[in-house]
Amino acid sequence: MHDFKYKNNNLYCEKVRVWDLAEKFGTPLYVYSYQTLISHFFKLKQAFEPVNPLICFSVKANFNLAILKALVDKGAGLDIVSGGELFRALKAGCSPKKIVYASVGKTNYEIEEAIKSGILFFNVESFSELENIQHIAKRLKSRVNVALRINPDVEPKTHKYITTGKLTNKFGIDFITAKEIILLARVFSHIKIAGLHIHIGSQITIPEPFVAAISKLVRFAGELKEEGINLEYLNIGGGLGIIYDQEKPQTARKFADKVLPLLKKTGLKIIMEPGRFIAGNAGILVTKVLYIKNTPKKKFVIVDAGMNDLIRPALYEAYHKIVPLSSQVRKFLPTGRQEASSQEKADVVGPICESGDFFAKDRVLPKVKEGDYLAVMGAGAYGFSMSSNYNSRRRAEEVMVVKDKVVVIRRRESYEDIVRNETIPPFLFGL
Ligand code: LLP
Repeated sequence: MHDFKYKNNNLYCEKVRVWDLAEKFGTPLYVYSYQTLISHFFKLKQAFEPVNPLICFSVKANFNLAILKALVDKGAGLDIVSGGELFRALKAGCSPKKIVYASVGKTNYEIEEAIKSGILFFNVESFSELENIQHIAKRLKSRVNVALRINPDVEPKTHKYITTGKLTNKFGIDFITAKEIILLARVFSHIKIAGLHIHIGSQITIPEPFVAAISKLVRFAGELKEEGINLEYLNIGGGLGIIYDQEKPQTARKFADKVLPLLKKTGLKIIMEPGRFIAGNAGILVTKVLYIKNTPKKKFVIVDAGMNDLIRPALYEAYHKIVPLSSQVRKFLPTGRQEASSQEKADVVGPICESGDFFAKDRVLPKVKEGDYLAVMGAGAYGFSMSSNYNSRRRAEEVMVVKDKVVVIRRRESYEDIVRNETIPPFLFGL
């Protein structure tokens, strides 16, 4: 469910016509619905109410400070993976006691900063990392909580690039090694193994992989208890899939029905790290049709957004629904009632000098003309956060809609912004 709907043949975000936003702020433009964002957070919170989890929004999905603050204000914690994300989390007003820190490659500097900030715990991914944290914590005279990230070797049935819980992936620690590490770590003076963590992948639409992984984790927590190791936290990661196309993902409620019984019996404090589920359908990317080009083999709709703005189709061949904003084009939407002749098959492509720069291939779309606006749906997660300045393109503007109000939450970059950190050394001027 989301708050991007057609009224009188115009796409609206909450109570604001998206076409007006495109005209006012220019394109490419990210538009977020505050209501959608918050309601997804509460859907998960309510579904899991019986275990009252700490829901740590995964900052990598959408790092905009306004998005983070909106969620933090509703009680969310944050899941971070770098010093930069820690900086953002604190700037957004998140209590350090609600921050959990994953990543297979935390640097000494990042570990030290996180310890000094007093985060809730690190999700630790290897023995070397654990030793390193012990070393740094000792130097800082702190005792640090960690959760071991377990690799449960479960197939999540999603894209191979976003599968993380198989033993061939770089993430986490297998059960046998984890047990050895936990027993060894009892002698670590400045570390407390306070929990276990899993994150098996992303855009997972069925409950079975979660159930399989969590069952293994719960069994393992039980084994540890028998060894006299009492944990405090169980972090079940993120990964809940959303609707981009025809997917029928589990709802928060259905997901909870399946995993709650497992979680409840552990008596541990539950942490979750959803990203896409909360932000994915809360944002769209609005773009303008620059040119229509027919070749002997294809029709190309060339738009002003590119793979630098939204890389998911190029990187994963991900499907994003594309719809027109304006009423004239809307009349021809493929709802079944329209004539087939008003639709056409086209590739929607960006201006970047790569053949991989596309948003859709051989997509049946309503006929569009130059100057029309299109919305790329489901762009709220891993959209702007994966964008770049490739081809020296300025990163897009982001706006947030709250009912009938619109606020700019990131202005479009200027040309000066994109060269700000560069210098031409004097010798190149012959000095
Ligand atoms: N926790 C950890 C440790 C993660 O690595 C991730 C995502 C999450 C939580 C949040 O997962 P989510 O609930 O959003 O599925 N760029 C890809 C997705 C990469 C996900 C990486 N890790 C995409 O655009 O599909």
